[in-house]
Amino acid sequence: MSAVIEIEGLRKTFHSLRNGRRVAVDGFDLLVEAGQVHGFLGPNGSGKTTTLRALLGLVRADSGRMTVLGEPSPELLPRVAGQVGAIVESPQFFGNFTGHRTLRLLARAGGVPVSRVDQVLDLVGLHDRGDDRVKSYSLGMKQRLAVASALLKDPRLLILDEPANGLDPAGIREMRDLMRSLAANGVTVLVSSHILGEIQLICDHVTIISRGRRVAAGRVDEVLAGHDRHEFLVRVAEPERAVELLHAAGLTAVVDGEALVVSGVGDPTVVSRVLGEQGLWVGELTPLRPDLESVFLELTGAYGPSSVPRQVDDSSPPRDGAVIDLDRGVDA
Ligand SMILES: Nc1ncnc2c1ncn2[C@@H]1O[C@H](COP(=O)(O)OP(=O)(O)O)[C@@H](O)[C@H]1O
Ligand SMILES: [Mg+2]
Repeated sequence: MSAVIEIEGLRKTFHSLRNGRRVAVDGFDLLVEAGQVHGFLGPNGSGKTTTLRALLGLVRADSGRMTVLGEPSPELLPRVAGQVGAIVESPQFFGNFTGHRTLRLLARAGGVPVSRVDQVLDLVGLHDRGDDRVKSYSLGMKQRLAVASALLKDPRLLILDEPANGLDPAGIREMRDLMRSLAANGVTVLVSSHILGEIQLICDHVTIISRGRRVAAGRVDEVLAGHDRHEFLVRVAEPERAVELLHAAGLTAVVDGEALVVSGVGDPTVVSRVLGEQGLWVGELTPLRPDLESVFLELTGAYGPSSVPRQVDDSSPPRDGAVIDLDRGVDA
């Protein structure tokens, strides 16, 4: 496997009049290898967009080492830019142009044969709507048009920042199917998201960012296995008595509604033996596997109070207001 994106120790600080210095990305690492559909997950304000902008040379990093398709970025990014499709700032299209015309203009501007337009419209499932004006498109269709524009140059690497943002479940499903088919065609995909709905289902690898730092990375199944507490849901006639028997046998168990949850179980037959020996017959014994959402919430404390110790710096959450980005000037 060869590295398509490498980021080591990326750091980016913003300075604003109102809020002073803010560390947006704080020593972040990311490794994306060829052929992956890599989910870049983190709550709002955790540093995803800043990371991608730094990677693509749209904002200047304070420090860190980055490569894209083997070339140091941003210095030598132009060498591989023709093989990278990216949608980081959401593109604005002219509503009065058709999808086809929009892509034709972009193809010409990018030196791509216009014959490619029909292919990419096909790829993103907009072929039937190519002659309709963009203003008649749904948000999901506009997102797919944006992906189509990034696909014009037939990239080896596609970077999408929050492609599911604002989409309804059907739109998310369309986006998911699209990414899946791109991956099947050999495109490496990096997709950021703060929503763990359906996007997670297409990623084989994930990197989770919280407050500018990496808190987890790896294959989705490995990240999940690392957070498996080996819990089982157990149904028996007398849950309270079952909990006492399991405690006496040295296991951790709590009543949960009409059932009980036993933790730290290596071998579940122990549970049925301990209970069965006392005449309590187990009606159900189900492993409780963590899902990406619960791991994400545990690691990032994204919603509501979290008992998880802070793994990352305690910088204040983003606030609205005028900010000065030293690289970009004043933002309203
Ligand atoms: N242009 C900017 N000027 C000042 N602060 C910024 C700017 N862009 C992002 N930030 C801050 O950096 C942090 C990370 O933001 P961002 O990278 O947009 O996060 P995400 O994409 O994960 O939502 C936030 O605290 C945000 O307010
Ligand atoms: Mg963002």
